Amino acid sequence: MLKPREAVRTLPSYHPPLAGRNGLRLDFNENTAGCSPRVLAKLRSTNLEQLAKYPEREPVEATAADFLNVKPAELLLTNGVDEAIHLLCETYLEPGDEALVVVPTYSMYRIYVMAAGAQLVNVPLGKDFQFSAENVINHITTRTRLIAIANPNNPTGTVADADQLLQIARSAPQAALLVDEAYYEFYGKTMLGSWNACPNTFVTRTFSKAYGLAGLRLGALMGDEEQMRAVRRVSSPYNVNAVALACLPAAIADQAYIGQYVEEVLETRAALENALRANGIHFWPSQANFVLARVGSLKEEAARFVEQMRRRGILVRDRSSDHGCEGCVRITCGPREHAGRLLQALSEVCKDLAVTQGVSRI
Ligand SMILES: Cc1ncc(COP(=O)(O)O)c(C=O)c1O
Repeated sequence: MLKPREAVRTLPSYHPPLAGRNGLRLDFNENTAGCSPRVLAKLRSTNLEQLAKYPEREPVEATAADFLNVKPAELLLTNGVDEAIHLLCETYLEPGDEALVVVPTYSMYRIYVMAAGAQLVNVPLGKDFQFSAENVINHITTRTRLIAIANPNNPTGTVADADQLLQIARSAPQAALLVDEAYYEFYGKTMLGSWNACPNTFVTRTFSKAYGLAGLRLGALMGDEEQMRAVRRVSSPYNVNAVALACLPAAIADQAYIGQYVEEVLETRAALENALRANGIHFWPSQANFVLARVGSLKEEAARFVEQMRRRGILVRDRSSDHGCEGCVRITCGPREHAGRLLQALSEVCKDLAVTQGVSRI
């Protein structure tokens, strides 16, 4: 009988709760205002020939590289950052190798590491989800071949600074260090170019969050030219579809749109943090477009909060099953108009829950 590989048979399945997302989608860190109108115009002008031809990635890669100030040979466009993570795992992990992830964090690191048959090593964040380079370094062994760090991290919104990341890269020259900058636009600090000093460093960016293009599946993986040659060998030449490639230059060109959106999100993130504080709900100050908040000490309390918000038309994400996140929900920050609806619902739900269960106090 045909059997999947052992690593696949034992792989936990990951089903993001995408079904029936009716309401204001503050559950997946998407841009709820949508993409630039220039991208929509480009989409509308897609023609038959573009759809009939195999997509040509290189010219758009050159545009993206120019925008990100790296050499074209240092950049690979990918089918979202998810594909970039997958490619790194395929390029560097042999069965039995170790891969470090700092938890709680983005779920797909674990999935692709395990699918490659490698050993996942969870390194817990410190008190209050603080990042400790020392702690990561203490988990490095001669078998460590990948270290994945989201910066800012999802779901905590916390960050590691450049010195800490370089220290880790230097402590494991035999391992690929992935610095996943999916939320870069809301933070503003980058490790791009750090492969010049540490050639084992990679950086990813996505167009799914600030750019509002999660449905197009567009990401970028960047690193040292020689390393990227190896990664490119693993990638399909047609991994990014023609429509996405046609839209990307328009998305990049409209920086005024991104700037305006990010400015609004930073403002609404502060408003959400203030509202949480005012309601006595513990949260972790965030450098991304979402905030993680502890709405109770139990899993059931987070579930109840999510359900109460859903009844008011607002979708937020239950993170209770993430490491150290019992009773926590993650709330995406959107434009002002959406923040108004969020804060209204939050205030009602906090009142209700304070009566029925006593919302946890700071
Ligand atoms: C840290 C992090 N990396 C990557 C992704 C996925 O990005 P993409 O849509 O480009 O695959 C997410 C999505 O939530 C994320 O939080």
